[in-house]
Amino acid sequence: MNPHTELISADPAGIARAATLLKGGDLVAFPTETVYGLGGDARSDIAVARIFDAKGRPRFNPLIVHLPSVKAARQIAIFSPEADRLADAFWPGPLTLVLPRRPDAGLSDLVTAGLPTVAIRIPEHPLAQALLRAFGGPLAAPSANPSGKISPTCAAHVTEGLSGKIAAILDGGACAVGVESTILALDPPTLLRPGGLPAEAIEACLGTRLSSGGNITKPTAPGQLASHYAPRASVRLNVTKPAPGEIWLGYGPIGADFNLSPSSDLVEAAANLFKTLRDADRQAGPKGRIAVAPIPNHGLGRAINDRLRRAAAPRS
Ligand code: TXA
Ligand code: MG
Repeated sequence: MNPHTELISADPAGIARAATLLKGGDLVAFPTETVYGLGGDARSDIAVARIFDAKGRPRFNPLIVHLPSVKAARQIAIFSPEADRLADAFWPGPLTLVLPRRPDAGLSDLVTAGLPTVAIRIPEHPLAQALLRAFGGPLAAPSANPSGKISPTCAAHVTEGLSGKIAAILDGGACAVGVESTILALDPPTLLRPGGLPAEAIEACLGTRLSSGGNITKPTAPGQLASHYAPRASVRLNVTKPAPGEIWLGYGPIGADFNLSPSSDLVEAAANLFKTLRDADRQAGPKGRIAVAPIPNHGLGRAINDRLRRAAAPRS
């Protein structure tokens, strides 16, 4: 889709070019002090779907939202006194905080995977700061590597993994920290991922020990993820002929009640997934039934099917 990934140099013209691409919904890899991030507009369903597509992620796990300042972060998340203290002490820097998401945050549902929380990071790297300010909005940015591969700490690593799959790479040399940010959930303070900021520094700041009960693959309470964005209606998969009374959620050129992508485009289908499930659920009603057409199981289709299987799983 991007046969010629641009290599952009770290000067004002380069930053302006990168911001323009991001504003158009394209993906740009950029340096942070931890690792290179694969940036996309966190408000745009299609940009976020492209991130999952470029990385070949088999699941829609939630992504970290990058912002230039604490002031900008307050517009999308709710800060407790503890969160304030950590932000004062460690931002900008290699710390990511998982905080309650403001309902009016304007983020794509795909960024938070439908969760009521949002992971926020304010990077310190001057190029990341310059890019965020030029772009003027929140950037979703997982590490800029194909899913399952090692995180990139220089532009050449990004080229190796993602060339031809993203619009551009902003070349800022090597990353100083070299490992991902530390991820912390609050209430109670829980280490979800060890990273660039030592846990001891966080414990000293808060004056408490961190629990480490967090599980990065199952955000918030274990098991909660599956039920959180299950529709109220029952869900049946791989349906080519819906039964009477079922709301048919289609894919491809079929006459369904709702359609994830009439043109059979998996990136578009991913971008539409959460909101279409919500719309179908509303139309089906509390005791209703949703029947989903078959979705090809390659590329983003794997992540879509993973999500749909959870929606269709028996409810406890
Ligand atoms: O250093 C870093 O953090 C890099 C640079 C680019 O900033 N970014 C990064 O992002 O590592 P990513 O998307 O690869 O890591 C996101 C991790 C995931 O493992 C995800 O489960 C967790 O953060 N996460 C995101 N939102 C969450 C949430 N609402 N609750 C719990 N965990 C969350
Ligand atoms: Mg990663």
